[in-house]
Amino acid sequence: MLNTLTAALTCCLLLTIPAHTFSLPPILTSNEDHDHQKPIKHPKHHPPLDIPFIGLGLWNSKGSDATHAVDAAFGTGYIHFDSAAAYSNEEYVGSGLTNVSIPRSSYWITSKLWNTAHQPSLVEPALRKTLSDLQTPYLDLYLMHWPVAFVPNPPKGRNSIIDQDTSILNTWRAMESLVHKNLTRYIGVSNFSPRQLDTILAACKTEKGGICPYAHEFETHPYLQQTEFVEWHLKHDIKVIAYSPLANLNPTYNGTHSDVPSILEDPFWQDLAANKSITVPQAVLGWGIQRGTVVIPKSVHAKRIKENLGAVDVNFTGLEMARIAEEDRRVRFNDPTKGWGVEPPLFEGLDGGSNRFVVEQEEL
Ligand SMILES: NC(=O)c1ccc[n+]([C@@H]2O[C@H](COP(=O)([O-])OP(=O)(O)OC[C@H]3O[C@@H](n4cnc5c(N)ncnc54)[C@H](OP(=O)(O)O)[C@@H]3O)[C@@H](O)[C@H]2O)c1
Repeated sequence: MLNTLTAALTCCLLLTIPAHTFSLPPILTSNEDHDHQKPIKHPKHHPPLDIPFIGLGLWNSKGSDATHAVDAAFGTGYIHFDSAAAYSNEEYVGSGLTNVSIPRSSYWITSKLWNTAHQPSLVEPALRKTLSDLQTPYLDLYLMHWPVAFVPNPPKGRNSIIDQDTSILNTWRAMESLVHKNLTRYIGVSNFSPRQLDTILAACKTEKGGICPYAHEFETHPYLQQTEFVEWHLKHDIKVIAYSPLANLNPTYNGTHSDVPSILEDPFWQDLAANKSITVPQAVLGWGIQRGTVVIPKSVHAKRIKENLGAVDVNFTGLEMARIAEEDRRVRFNDPTKGWGVEPPLFEGLDGGSNRFVVEQEEL
């Protein structure tokens, strides 16, 4: 369904979205390249589950709240969970996952490799710890959480010392072996710039046993639409998982771009939702799904978890989609470049990120 929807929408979006100023790197993928990312064989996956277009986010879901959120989500009909070692709650998420009676092959679990485990020898142990915490024999998707390696076991109080000797490619090759070992069905990336993605694509397509990213999880919502970047992925069969799909509702983002209203109080979204007799979160998430992205809203409240699932029934006209495109503020809420001391900066060439790549292109 997602693919059909995407194809139908892409044509409308191409007609209505103004051109962006940056150029993406040379496109290396082609439709024949699916063989680079086949699901592992699993007798119970027949047919194998594809990523559901709505899932439950789990960042900031603390302790037993995470267990209850997973319980509530299953009870409402979610079959997709977006976890990460860095959220420090995978044992609690695992308790929620083991409470259900549906077969493991009927639901989707994503988790993520943290920056301190990028050295190739640390990648498999990191995944095995996640599997043990989540109480599952395999993941559906394992993502490189950030294109940044930290020194493992840093001295106390210094959590983010950049490991200059471990490249994203070193880490990616170690992740490929996890698919060969049937520990995860797919692998992918998160928070990558076009240039970083291109590095992975160039290698995975040419190296023996190479496996290309199934998905890219990054920040995108009505205030940071990144339409050209999203469409580039969809065109090349890389799923886009939209994180922070409710824009600035994550309280961690309080104080970042305080000139931008909470999306719940944005008159444009209030009117749009009221006209359809739906809530603002349903409208925002419904737009995310209709543009072909996978949305993963986080909540620890059963009522909101249920409300958010209502997004799957939302439909916008072509005209409404065009109006929403005009509301893009191009603001990014999640950028740890400065805090981590990352050089070159993250999100190079993307809206709300470093513009070094844009400048280089313009100078050519
Ligand atoms: N790969 C990455 O680097 C990365 C980065 C960020 C996020 N993520 C993933 O994406 C998920 C979602 O992003 P996010 O957590 O940043 O933000 P989000 O899902 O856009 O927003 C979450 C916030 O919205 C509130 N909320 C949810 N539904 C609501 C509703 N119907 N009405 C009113 N408030 C509502 C939640 O509060 P309550 O919980 O109190 O209901 C929470 O404070 C994360 O949980 C995580 O799994 C990944």
